[in-house]
Amino acid sequence: MSPGSVQAFYERLPYPPPLASLDKNLALFKSPERRRIRSLLMFPGGEPDGRQTILVAGCGTSQAAKVALREPDARVIAIDISNSSLDHQRGLKQKYALENLELHQLSLLEVASLERAFDQIICTGVLHHLPDPDEGLHRLREVLVPGGAMQIMVYASYGRAGIYMMQEYCRRLGIEASDQELHDLAATLEFLPDDHPLGWMLHRFRDFTHPDALADALLHPQDRAYTVPQLHGWLHRSEMCFGRWIEQAPYLPQCGAIARTPHAARLGLLSEPEQHAAAELFRGVITHHSFVAYRNDRAKPAQPVRFAGEQWRDYVPVRLPWTTIVREQIPPGSVAVLLNPVHKHPDLVLPVNTMENRLFARIDGKRTFGEIARDYSQKDIAGRVRPFFQRLWQYDQIVVDASRASHATG
Ligand SMILES: C[S@@+](CC[C@H](N)C(=O)[O-])C[C@H]1O[C@@H](n2cnc3c(N)ncnc32)[C@H](O)[C@@H]1O
Repeated sequence: MSPGSVQAFYERLPYPPPLASLDKNLALFKSPERRRIRSLLMFPGGEPDGRQTILVAGCGTSQAAKVALREPDARVIAIDISNSSLDHQRGLKQKYALENLELHQLSLLEVASLERAFDQIICTGVLHHLPDPDEGLHRLREVLVPGGAMQIMVYASYGRAGIYMMQEYCRRLGIEASDQELHDLAATLEFLPDDHPLGWMLHRFRDFTHPDALADALLHPQDRAYTVPQLHGWLHRSEMCFGRWIEQAPYLPQCGAIARTPHAARLGLLSEPEQHAAAELFRGVITHHSFVAYRNDRAKPAQPVRFAGEQWRDYVPVRLPWTTIVREQIPPGSVAVLLNPVHKHPDLVLPVNTMENRLFARIDGKRTFGEIARDYSQKDIAGRVRPFFQRLWQYDQIVVDASRASHATG
């Protein structure tokens, strides 16, 4: 498959579906709170000093403008091979007077020609479409500063099994991405057996049969997917190292149904990458991997968050504003259940008791864990408080600012 066929595909079918206006969610895109949360995911020990330079590699139709709105103090440089996608970004740049945004029609394989170095690189939904994703990641690594961070999203193999079956079905029938063919394909999927491996996706993702989404999922000229061990192998070959998942609970054997199985203790003995690989196999429906990665020659620890030892007391927890508290129809002994709606796994809910509810309410993004837990005895802290804080973090209810802890080194 030639690189040109991917370019031609996105020239004709820009993805995601273009947005003429970001007004509806403008306050969210500009929210300093959301910016802080994202920064803490990438740099929990503190951002690199100075004005940030951010690369959005394969920016599609609106991502670059959203990043430029969120990061008014940064220089945002966005590249894509599809000029029609960039045209939509040009419209948004003009509409919102985004002076901090530069757009270039350029393959990420040529990114070195910009002669820039980046503190952050965002590359979501792109590298798995390259003929050689190893080369793509390598090229991005070359322009990442040593203390910088990358946010990457690539497809996950097992959860997309049904997609790959239907891609093959479409290839055998010679289906093309014309309006009529997409219409017929959507109508055909209505007849798909409920127990087909694609069936659950049709139910869970309401927009799946929208023509743009359908073309991107089932008629793409080139995509590949990764299992967790393949992802680690890829990072290793590219002289990168894994930092954290953007949403980590689905990968952790400490969260949800897997934690209640007879295998829980055995899973706990595995290394973290092996735990995540096992959780991916247990869940079966993870469709993409969103994660943070760093250069492997980074001088300082990138993800210093640990709940063993005493440093956790100096972390400042920050609640994620999109999480939900449910107070009705909750398990006995709890006063609420905490949900992160970004998780698509119904078992990832965290029941909380009266004491935990009180602790949770004290999290204000300013106080440290130590200050929040000040009134509790050492016995309670060791037995109940610290484990609860750790669970909040594991279940993606909070991120933490570890910059005040002595081991935090940026
Ligand atoms: C699925 S879209 C994702 C867009 C965006 N990252 C987002 O998350 O909304 C993939 C984008 O990658 C672009 N792309 C594919 N190969 C590329 C390459 N070699 N260099 C730069 N962009 C590329 C496509 O043109 C398309 O706009």
